[in-house]
Amino acid sequence: MTASQERIVLTYGTFDLFHAGHVRLLQRASELGSKVIVGLSTDDFNALKGKQAVMSYEDRKCILEACRYVDEVFPENHWEQKTFDAQRLGADVFVMGDDWTGKFDFMSGHCDVVYLSRTPDVSTTLLKKKISSWRNIAQQIPSL
Ligand code: CTP
Repeated sequence: MTASQERIVLTYGTFDLFHAGHVRLLQRASELGSKVIVGLSTDDFNALKGKQAVMSYEDRKCILEACRYVDEVFPENHWEQKTFDAQRLGADVFVMGDDWTGKFDFMSGHCDVVYLSRTPDVSTTLLKKKISSWRNIAQQIPSL
């Protein structure tokens, strides 16, 4: 495939505790083009957003790169870089889950913007809550 035939799909996220919702988002993103590039929130950028990932940037990157639907991962350091990234990478499609609907419409000046429906009943937040409640139960069992 020549560069001109390539259809670049760009997406962003933290992808902490990589789960089925992430896989399904990336799978559908891969069906919209020939190459999926992920802007992965760095630990510093997460701190700026008031978010703390369980897994380090390096570990989250390592897992994303092992996903068959992902071709490339680069750091997302701040909110303002998306339009520059889209130009730099020659993005044809910008994809996010529909929890972000409308938030990135400004990207339509650079490429198509697609919001995909989120997979229900799974998120990093939910997983953290489950782990935390199991930990609380385990602490009440003296033999553990
Ligand atoms: N995503 C999805 N379905 C889910 C969870 C996430 O489609 N059930 C999508 C998001 O919409 C986003 C991408 O996956 O486009 C990365 O989301 P991220 O914020 O890293 O994952 P969440 O599980 O939503 O994390 P958190 O609970 O910390 O917000």
